[in-house]
Amino acid sequence: KTIKAFQETLLAWYDQNKRDLPWRQDQDPYHVWVSEIMLQQTQVETVIPYYLRFMNEFPTIEDLAAAPEDKLMKAWEGLGYYSRARNLQKAAQQIVFDYQGQWPTTAKELQELSGIGPYTAGAIASIAFGQPVAAVDGNAFRVFARLLEIDDDVAKPHTRQVFEKIINPIVPKNRPGDFNQAIMDLGASYMTATNYDTSQSPVKDFNQSYLDGIEDHYPVKTKK
Ligand code: ADE
Repeated sequence: KTIKAFQETLLAWYDQNKRDLPWRQDQDPYHVWVSEIMLQQTQVETVIPYYLRFMNEFPTIEDLAAAPEDKLMKAWEGLGYYSRARNLQKAAQQIVFDYQGQWPTTAKELQELSGIGPYTAGAIASIAFGQPVAAVDGNAFRVFARLLEIDDDVAKPHTRQVFEKIINPIVPKNRPGDFNQAIMDLGASYMTATNYDTSQSPVKDFNQSYLDGIEDHYPVKTKK
């Protein structure tokens, strides 16, 4: 099976079945970024009301940069991992004051900002700026490990680079953000951590570990 056939099958499924999420209304980097930071350690269903309230309180990146600390912490209350909120404001100030409001557009440059690691940088670069780069989070590790029978231990720090090297060339140049979000939706539906039965999955014909009957071997993960 070719890469092109995989991309087309996945994106056709996404077009019909993508989740209707508030941060998918547009490709504004501010919207993409805030949602991705919230989604780092928090479930989609929990994030939705926080995201909507946050955008009401701080409609623009300038509002966030200038927000009083107590108002910011109040908006984050209940989400936990408060360093995320502090880094969010720090990065907002970097963009507004150091970059005159101009977002960097490549994954490499985005990682210079507070709180933006390789995953978030890939998500913003692909979704907001159309850069053909992978966004490798736990979903992508699991989905691609199963699809391609990748045996590298996902608990090891170096493994991220292995996956990025494999996935980057598979990300389509015309729809990188949709591709990455389709992988997330696949990881939340047919290819969850506990669902090894992907006989109904739209990409089952491309799923090598399913075809070989060894889906439960992937992802390879040593206990910490
Ligand atoms: N998890 C992390 N980022 C996401 C996104 N953009 N859509 C859905 N789930 C996600």
